[in-house]
This record gives sequence, structure tokens and C-alpha cells, in this order.
Amino acid sequence: MSEPARDIATLSWWMFAIAAVVFGGALFLLLLAWMGRGREGFPVIGKREKLESRAVVLFGIVIPVVVLVGVFAFANLVVLKDTDAPKASSTALTVEVTGHQWFWEVRYPGTRAVTANEIHIPARTRVNLVAKTDDVIHSIWIPRLNRKIDTIPGHPNRILLYADEPGRYRGQCAEFCGLQHAHMAMYVFADPPDRFRAWLRNMQRPEPAPSGPSERSGERTFMDGQCASCHTIRGTPARGDIGPDLTHLRSRTTLAGLTIPNRGGYLLRWIRNPQHFKPGNKMPALGLSDRQLQKLVTYLEGLR
Ligand code: CUA
Repeated sequence: MSEPARDIATLSWWMFAIAAVVFGGALFLLLLAWMGRGREGFPVIGKREKLESRAVVLFGIVIPVVVLVGVFAFANLVVLKDTDAPKASSTALTVEVTGHQWFWEVRYPGTRAVTANEIHIPARTRVNLVAKTDDVIHSIWIPRLNRKIDTIPGHPNRILLYADEPGRYRGQCAEFCGLQHAHMAMYVFADPPDRFRAWLRNMQRPEPAPSGPSERSGERTFMDGQCASCHTIRGTPARGDIGPDLTHLRSRTTLAGLTIPNRGGYLLRWIRNPQHFKPGNKMPALGLSDRQLQKLVTYLEGLR
């Protein structure tokens, strides 16, 4: 959890409680009115001078204004202050997250690290998340860390990411952005600081040349076929920018925006028919033979 997420939870529970009291009160008045039907004046009290107009002012104007102004003030003075964009000087790290239909590109400005869908941050560190988009409006939402932040074309937004303990926090695109909006998820891994530094160091490393014959054959398939025109693998000629950067692909736990796990035969089945797992995504089936496919996967699984 984080301070902003706790504030948001507190606000929503208070709003729920207040709404429940107002709803209960309205039901009670309705019940009184029903019990007093057919008689003049108020139930129990009877007919009194000016009482009707005062009741209308109290329940129709005073109570709603006091309740709404109170909740509005709390939301804007307390919650908005804590969930607002952080001051640049108050953060120790900037992460740039760019929405694509339908995956998240993750960059660490000032370094060469690029990854997709799995954001690593150091725990107990204030991180400045810059939200961008390459196409339509998406919205980054990691409920246990902060509120939603929209990605607007041509207008980067910022939000604070802070995890007060190490762990894995799930995030989701929260703005409908097309067919696979629901499969546009992400993980935020809050690592202990030394683990994070080791991860970042590894991510900056270009891929070394593959060693075995199967890997080399798989690499050729990747570079000569259509893969390299859409994907980047740093340290190789592959420079495509349509699909996710695949450098150190094996260090991710999931594929395709958390749609499938990155283990077992999933990678092979994904490449064989990407439209099966995520219909409408931009990756075509390549029509490779089983042997080619197997070698391609062997190569990709060596990208650690
Ligand atoms: Cu991206 Cu919904």
C-alpha cells in the first residue's frame, strides 16, 4: 500500500458510510410519511405552523449542502494533495510508461533500460511516473499504489509511485482503448533497493551473441523474418518499434500484457498463433515450421 492509496480507501469508506446514513434517513422519512397517510400534518407531531417549509429547507437544502461540501472539501484538500503530481525534487527516480494498443512500454530516462508491462521500482522510494501514449488515451491504474492517471496524446502526465513495502502490485489500463483493453495489464515490482539496482544494471546490458547452434539459427529466423521489423533487441540489428522491446525477455514473468505466463510452452504457442490468446493484437502468425519455431523460442529464452 501507499499513503495516497490509503487516503483514497479512507475517502471511499467515509463516502459509503455517509451515503448509507443519508439513504437510511430518507427511507425512515418515507416510512413515516407512509404511516401518516390520509391524515393532515406530520405523523406523531401533527399539524404545526411553518413546520412543513422548515422541514423542506432542512432536509432538501441544509443537510445536502453540508454533506456535499464536507465530502468535497475532504476529497480536495486531503486526498487530492496526496495524490497530486509529485514535485520533481521530491522523487529519486523517473520511470516513463507509454501506452500502446495493447501493451505498456517502460523506460528509465538516463539509462538504456527498456522493458514492457513489468515495471520495477525500488521499495520505499518516491518514484516519478511519467504517463505517455503512442496512440489513443489509456489510463494507468495501480490501485494499491495510487489513483488513475490518463495517458493523453501530446500531453505527458505525472503521478507518484511509492510502495511502502517490497512486493508485486497489479495494474490495469482503466480507460477503454479498443478490443484488448482488458488484456492491457501490468505489474509493478517493488524490489529491495539493491535488488532493483542489480535488475536495472542487467536491463541496460545489450544482449550478447547467442552461443549454441539452435540459438544462432533462431536468431537468424528472428532477424531475417518479420520479427525484427516490429521488435527491438538491443545489441542486435532488430530495431522495430511496433511491438514490445524484447531485450532480456526471459526476465519477465508474463507475456502480452499479463495475458499469459512467460514459461513452459506459452511463448511457443503465442508465436504460433498470437491471435488465439489476444484477438486483434498487431502480431501476425508467421507460418514458421515447427523446427524453426522451436529454434526461435530457444533463442528468445536465452535473452536473460
Ligand atoms: Cu489501454 Cu485500455
